[in-house]
Amino acid sequence: MHIDIAPFVPALATEHEIAECYEASTAVFREFSDWPAPSYASFVEELRMPTSLLGSQRYWVARTGGRIVGMATLTLPEHENVELTITSVRVVPESRRQGIGTALLRATLPDSRAAGRVVVTGQGLKVGGEGEKWASALGFARVQEFVLQDLAVPDVDPRLWRVAAPDGYRAEQWTGAAPEALVAGYARARTAIMDAPAGESSLRFPDWTVDRVRRHEADLRERGEEQRIVVAVHESTGAVAGLTEMVISPSRPTLGYQQETAVLPAFRGHGLGRFIKARQMQWLRAERPEISRVATNTAADNSHMIRVNHQVGYRTNATVADVEAHIDTLEARW
Ligand SMILES: CC(C)(COP(=O)(O)OP(=O)(O)OC[C@H]1O[C@@H](n2cnc3c(N)ncnc32)[C@H](O)[C@@H]1OP(=O)(O)O)[C@@H](O)C(=O)NCCC(=O)NCCS
Repeated sequence: MHIDIAPFVPALATEHEIAECYEASTAVFREFSDWPAPSYASFVEELRMPTSLLGSQRYWVARTGGRIVGMATLTLPEHENVELTITSVRVVPESRRQGIGTALLRATLPDSRAAGRVVVTGQGLKVGGEGEKWASALGFARVQEFVLQDLAVPDVDPRLWRVAAPDGYRAEQWTGAAPEALVAGYARARTAIMDAPAGESSLRFPDWTVDRVRRHEADLRERGEEQRIVVAVHESTGAVAGLTEMVISPSRPTLGYQQETAVLPAFRGHGLGRFIKARQMQWLRAERPEISRVATNTAADNSHMIRVNHQVGYRTNATVADVEAHIDTLEARW
């Protein structure tokens, strides 16, 4: 069997090729998730964007018999993560164990090297699943585990979200852009994410500044993503003690992604995490009743966050892992 691997430039691709990519990608998506797959229109829109929120992206496709049966995506993050790649490889189930995944990964390496990246990372591989077995056969090692949790909005008793503000704090909330009066404190509160457990992962959390917050808000707006923020304000000092972020993507309008939640060290241990997450759900249910499900992922050893999530109605579904290999190790195979 001849395997043809070629770079794939969405802007130059034919409608037929894009439809084949959609089919291949949806086939793999369905194996992993019972969530609705992104629509064709939103898949195309996302594919045609030159960058993801994480960094610029390049693609390769694998063809056998002229048909696209696999894809690789190379993401080159910026800022504190310029030494690594986020590389994703997908092969349709019926074409596996023929060397296609390996050939796709190999094709990404010269660009990774040319961009100065020395660590290749793979994210969200099902622990003990096919992806992880493949990665480990190629020399990747598991560097961190995460639990995937989700909350079925109609099944959760909304009384779980009636959590009183801890003494001395109040909540503030906004969509889109942080109010000028809070943005500096909000950026500072976001840096508290750096205390989240990171395992052996080389991936560094963003060092948030007001400038980066404003750029992140603008990136989300450009992509049509709705960002909903709840913060806890320490009333006597006006400090932003903690924040939680929910993002709703236009490609899956009935799903919410619970993203970063962080409380600054000086304010921990007062129930603020639970308070702001509960407030986020109350607000979401009131304003966006069409959202039926909310998902999040949390480091598997972050027992506080996992417990808070259970308290507001999340269930734990699965454990996934991030893997890494040094580019020298991978290149040495070939
Ligand atoms: C992971 C994936 C890309 C592998 O694609 P593939 O084309 O089947 O992989 P290859 O044929 O190149 O496999 C190379 C070697 O990896 C190992 N391997 C691959 N799949 C394996 C499995 N299910 N169990 C055990 N070992 C496996 C084997 O050593 C294999 O060599 P062999 O077939 O000669 O024994 C594919 O299973 C997939 O798309 N999974 C879903 C997406 C995913 O998890 N991607 C992970 C990377 S981001």
